[in-house]
Amino acid sequence: MAKKHDLRVMEDAAHSLPTTCSGKMIGTLDSDVTVFSFYANKTITTGEGGMLVTRDPEIAKRARVMRLHGINRDAFDRFTAKAPSWYYEIVAPGFKYNMTDIAASMGIHQLKKANAFQQKRAHIAALYDEALADLPIVKPPQSAEGDIHSWHLYVIQLDDSVAITRDQFVERMFAQGIGCSVHYIPLHLHPYWRDTYKLTPEMFPVSQRIYERTLSLPLYTRMTDDDVKRVVSAVKEALK
Ligand SMILES: Cc1ncc(COP(=O)(O)O)c(C=O)c1O
Repeated sequence: MAKKHDLRVMEDAAHSLPTTCSGKMIGTLDSDVTVFSFYANKTITTGEGGMLVTRDPEIAKRARVMRLHGINRDAFDRFTAKAPSWYYEIVAPGFKYNMTDIAASMGIHQLKKANAFQQKRAHIAALYDEALADLPIVKPPQSAEGDIHSWHLYVIQLDDSVAITRDQFVERMFAQGIGCSVHYIPLHLHPYWRDTYKLTPEMFPVSQRIYERTLSLPLYTRMTDDDVKRVVSAVKEALK
């Protein structure tokens, strides 16, 4: 569609490192730009920050300039520039979006562990899939055969046959010492979008219904098989 209408495509791949689609890594598909998040709860992290990838040298150049005050680094490249080393030029109204060196040093080492982290997450997800199989729970979608899922989150939905609400379920999990979360609260419920665009839940029945039944179970790389068992028994208890 983008090609037909000559549009640029930027992929929000916040959750998707490392993930594949038809055998290709996300970030190598046909879009103009792909953006990954390295926020604290992502598969790899730099605390805050992320990564932009592109094949387009013009976009890469623009991103480098805009990420740090619109400064053109070529102006003070110490090998090629004729200008003195203190010299720089602001060539655009840029931002302060640079990753700090401290965060980057963490990222370099996290990146090396990305595949191992993904495998550990996939292991935990498989344990959940098996242990929750006979419960009235809609499991998260799987990746296609042969593809890799990052398993950033393990999102379940309570089946309609479950008599309690999602909130009651989460309370029962908390009471057993298991923290759960909800990913995500739909935009139409957030005051800014709700009030600015006069949005109501009735306008988004599918999103609303899924939101009301959805929650995320704990999933992090240091979880042990016994931790997973503990979560599963809490789920069973909460469903009683
Ligand atoms: C789909 C999606 N896009 C973007 C973001 C934002 O990422 P960041 O916190 O690195 O800006 C998130 C955060 O979880 C996300 O889930």
